[in-house]
Amino acid sequence: MTEPGFRTIIEPFRIHSVEPLRMTTRAEREVAVAKAGYNLFQVDAQDVLIDLLTDSGTGAMSRDQWAAIQRGDESYAGSPSYFRFRDAVRALFPFEHVIPTHQGRAAEKIIFGVLGGPGKLVPNNTHFDTTRANVEFTGAEAVDLVIAEGRDPRSQHPFKGNMDVEALQALLAERADDVPVVFMTITNNSGGGQPVSLANLRAVREVCDRYGKLLFLDACRFAENAWFIHEREDGQAGREVADIVHDIASLADGMTMSAKKDPMGNIGGWLAMNDDELASQCRSLLILTEGFPTYGGLAGRDLEALAQGLTEAVDHDYLRYRITSTAYLGDALQRVGMPILSPTGGHAVYLDARALLPHIDPLHYPGQALAIALYEAGGVRSCEIGTVMFGRRPDGSEVPAPLDLVRLAIPRRTYTQSHIDYVIEVCEQVVAAAGDLRGYRIIDEPPALRHFTATFEPLR
Ligand code: F0G
Repeated sequence: MTEPGFRTIIEPFRIHSVEPLRMTTRAEREVAVAKAGYNLFQVDAQDVLIDLLTDSGTGAMSRDQWAAIQRGDESYAGSPSYFRFRDAVRALFPFEHVIPTHQGRAAEKIIFGVLGGPGKLVPNNTHFDTTRANVEFTGAEAVDLVIAEGRDPRSQHPFKGNMDVEALQALLAERADDVPVVFMTITNNSGGGQPVSLANLRAVREVCDRYGKLLFLDACRFAENAWFIHEREDGQAGREVADIVHDIASLADGMTMSAKKDPMGNIGGWLAMNDDELASQCRSLLILTEGFPTYGGLAGRDLEALAQGLTEAVDHDYLRYRITSTAYLGDALQRVGMPILSPTGGHAVYLDARALLPHIDPLHYPGQALAIALYEAGGVRSCEIGTVMFGRRPDGSEVPAPLDLVRLAIPRRTYTQSHIDYVIEVCEQVVAAAGDLRGYRIIDEPPALRHFTATFEPLR
């Protein structure tokens, strides 16, 4: 949030309870990261100063969320906390059935458990990695159909998360019988936190109607997406974000959700839909792994915190501050010579490590080199999204990922502008020494999801 006439971004909250940050020296960090096999997922959070690994579950809850927690009713069945949660979800997403889960991927496991299977094909603008994994686990194929601009790190398209509607139409013309559902991820996390427009959602809806297909949202960052619509789409500027969210929901038949993002929860998720028969099949699976349908793997107090968080997520002052402060980081990084994926997305800034480190071969992991350098220089933890994450083929061979990115994800309401100014300085220092950075070699890796546990060695 900025007051008219002033430059400084004011966090639209003041601090009520604080968590200490542990200061470390560069020498201590070099020891910590070497001990972790140069894998930032293996570094103890205690040894991190500014943790930008993810915006998921890492946000600060509000006074009113902590107060709501006290109201949590832990009844196994039919808790009033469930009904408050359900009604808060429905106030934004008026779906008939609202089924809580412990986080987003649990909702994905259930919906694809019902709709997936060998020979099936699920289109999405871009699948997030757990979504793709849950589609593929059933034997189905996950197809990404984002617009061409969404694959270009420099394109300034205002809605780089949009689906390529013609490609979707062509796919359905050929394989309609194999497609159980079409998904839209808002915002498009794997594509850089880029938004989807209302016009694109309407066009996708039309194609789905033509073929009689369900349309589901992966709506983790729905409020940030709606704010971008408010700011960038014709005729939307004067509207309430909650009404824009309503419009988005009215175009879909259901949704999967990680409540660890925009709903401001430290844990939680849900699955929602209108179809009675589909909901009944999902609830049967829910009981196997998550729990009874009025708590689905969550405590009553968690449901209360989410119900309150949902009302805060669509507040205009909060969203203006959220999106402006992410852009503030992106703009400043460009000024200090750090190449980034632009325009800046909602929840994160994605550094273009391949562009910064052209002397490091993609198979020597420029994203890993940059992420380790940011940690060693300033204790900033980020996440490689490149050849380490996506470069290994099922036969064990390696190919460069399309891009070598490093994500600086911003937890909600957690860090102040001076923390972000510090991150900018750390990046500036790393940019100045970029020519000295060296690549890495993997010395040990598991067969799948290697980025979480692989160990590395710096190349000399
Ligand atoms: N869909 C999207 C678009 C996501 O970004 C995530 C999680 C999920 C689904 C899965 O939700 O973690 O609650 O099971 N993204 C986190 C991230 C992990 O760091 O981007 P979950």
